[in-house]
Amino acid sequence: MSTNITWHEGAVSKEERQSLLGQKGLTIWFTGLSASGKSTLATALEQTLLHSGISAYRLDGDNIRFGLNKNLGFGPDDRTENIRRIGEVAKLFADAATIAVTSFISPYRQDRDSARALHEAAGIPFVEVFADAPLEVVEQRDPKGLYKKAKAGEIKEFTGISAPYEAPEKADIHIKTHETSVEEGVKIVLDYLVEKGYVQADKLKKTA
Ligand SMILES: Nc1ncnc2c1ncn2[C@@H]1O[C@H](COP(=O)(O)OP(=O)(O)O)[C@@H](O)[C@H]1O
Ligand SMILES: [Mg+2]
Repeated sequence: MSTNITWHEGAVSKEERQSLLGQKGLTIWFTGLSASGKSTLATALEQTLLHSGISAYRLDGDNIRFGLNKNLGFGPDDRTENIRRIGEVAKLFADAATIAVTSFISPYRQDRDSARALHEAAGIPFVEVFADAPLEVVEQRDPKGLYKKAKAGEIKEFTGISAPYEAPEKADIHIKTHETSVEEGVKIVLDYLVEKGYVQADKLKKTA
């Protein structure tokens, strides 16, 4: 615990920053089983936003474990700490008026709710997107061969096989990736962002 610390306010308010940069920050939080399509959708979404001249930045589960979270494993406590840190980092990006796009299994409902609470307390939108596909489908996709390894007992605490996944009960967006193409999935998210007023439709149309 840190003590004797005081928050130092900046000279530019959140509203002024957004107006100066011409965009609003928020976090788009993908959750779902391994191979459900989180990274695929997040990557395509980030590309579309950037090509529309909108600042977006992806925080991806595997990538973050190469650096910031390289000291964390896959036990329950480390998974919670993994998500706590990502919630904080995503919030920083969003506070900087960027669209943070996270793709983490984030299997525990409470951890995702904590990330949401963190954002809401700061007045920053948090959009939970459930990348959903049945276990049979993701086992079939198995792009990294992880389900095969997990079923052979070579990976312990693997979500969906030997560790729990708590599906969202009220995700802001629910995409069934076995019934929806990647392009359609991205469009569902973009339509939601426009509907909520987080991005301007004309900005997207111009260059997307
Ligand atoms: N509609 C879809 N949306 C997202 N991914 C899909 C879809 N259909 C098939 N896939 C495939 O499913 C796999 C998902 O892998 P990935 O995006 O790495 O998942 P995750 O990041 O959730 O572990 C990829 O091989 C991707 O091509
Ligand atoms: Mg991924």
